[in-house]
Amino acid sequence: MQLPDMQEAKKREQKEVQYIYEEMKISNAFDGKKYFIKTYGCQMNVHDSEEIAGLLENLGYTPVESELEADIILLNTCAIRENAHDKVFGFLGRCKHLKKEKPEVKLILCGCMAQERSVVDEIMEKHPYIDLVFGTHNIHEIPNYLMNLHEGLNIEVKSNESNVYEVGETYKRDSSYTAWVNIMYGCDKFCTYCIVPYTRGKERSRKSADILKEIACLKEKGYKEVTLLGQNVNAYGRDLENDLTFAELLESVAKLGIERIRFVTSHPWNFTDEMIEIIAKYDNIMPYIHLPLQSGSDRILRMMGRRYKKEEYIALYRKIKKLVPNVAITTDIIVGFPNETEEDFKETLDVVNTCKFDGAFTFIYSKREGTPAARMDDEITKEEKEERLHRLNEIVNTYSNENNQKYKGTIQKVLLLGTSEKDESKCYGYTETMKLVNVECNKSLIGQIVDVDIIEAKSFSLDGIVK
Ligand code: SAH
Ligand code: SF4
Ligand code: F3S
Repeated sequence: MQLPDMQEAKKREQKEVQYIYEEMKISNAFDGKKYFIKTYGCQMNVHDSEEIAGLLENLGYTPVESELEADIILLNTCAIRENAHDKVFGFLGRCKHLKKEKPEVKLILCGCMAQERSVVDEIMEKHPYIDLVFGTHNIHEIPNYLMNLHEGLNIEVKSNESNVYEVGETYKRDSSYTAWVNIMYGCDKFCTYCIVPYTRGKERSRKSADILKEIACLKEKGYKEVTLLGQNVNAYGRDLENDLTFAELLESVAKLGIERIRFVTSHPWNFTDEMIEIIAKYDNIMPYIHLPLQSGSDRILRMMGRRYKKEEYIALYRKIKKLVPNVAITTDIIVGFPNETEEDFKETLDVVNTCKFDGAFTFIYSKREGTPAARMDDEITKEEKEERLHRLNEIVNTYSNENNQKYKGTIQKVLLLGTSEKDESKCYGYTETMKLVNVECNKSLIGQIVDVDIIEAKSFSLDGIVK
């Protein structure tokens, strides 16, 4: 529970944030300046970048397509795996050369890597040419930081504090038809391999009234789809007093009448029957669920701290399939967790062969310093892990293709989002079950939900013609 004086302080701080925006808009301090944001990582980061872009444009900045044209370059970083780090430091290397030619360019690093102590130390030691580092808990303060930048490296990283800021519709959304909506921040699950609880802090839910207001407003503006965002949406509301559960929130959002509602991510643990009932009951809650498995071996699941067993996962999967008509289910799988044996891996393959997922994001375990799994011995070689990943992907792709083939000859409702990347004469969009479709149609239909004849099915996409 929050103490009354803390609530007061929070309100005051929010007012001050608002005040800074207004003052800076009037001052036009940054009019004509150009920004470039490079975003790594998950939907949360993508949505955070929308917030940063909105805040910058509110100050007078305009976006550019390349870092070479920008006055400020922001890297919104991800820390989930080692290669995410490598990509960021590779990009930073190129920016270092750019800064030599144009010293007035400001280089900013934010996002999950900024919350890692070791990264901040590395930046201080090896990359002092960066102008500003700020973390995941103080995005709303970027106007303040830009206004008060001093020479050299500015570090503004807050440890995992528990405030939720409501600073209004400051987002510059990438799409006019589909929108991300944060319902909660952080994660308390502490899966032993995962860095997110350390980079995003503990679970904090937004008040349902604020979420519903935001979605009503998006509907009013013509948005067709919202995706409710949280690292584990099932946990929504547990940190609030007298507010809704996730199932109740879903129902309230459905009643607002927006055409499509999605949510990510649901942990298999605490996926309640009530949630399944609500998903099945409302036509505007999309029949698509991302349900990360991680491993099929009870031994590994226990070491991962996932709080469910193989058979419990399969039972939940079957229950959802039975109660939600035509539902598509995708998953995440990690191979090569410390000392995963061939038997453990076969248990994972067994779940994949039982569930026949619509799709799976598969990863080789990556050691994250500071997590409990990083202290576990690991005798498995890189080659063995790569070989397992390869075997897993072959099976995953077979089922993904099989599931897609079932769509051939059917009519699907597709929300058209834009011009297809592969073929400019076509549009692309998604079915209710989140299948990507390349569609032959008039471009004027972009932004609408249309009936599409599916004429071809591939492993990762469908082809169709507007009926
Ligand atoms: N909150 C989500 C996961 C967010 S991270 C959930 O629990 O479902 C997205 C995915 O990255 C995870 O599902 C996991 O499969 C993968 N991942 C996380 N940490 C990892 C690590 N250390 N090595 C490899 N993959 C990892
Ligand atoms: Fe990471 Fe587990 Fe939290 Fe997902 S639920 S973000 S895997 S700690
Ligand atoms: Fe990466 Fe942070 Fe998301 S570590 S996966 S950007 S929460």
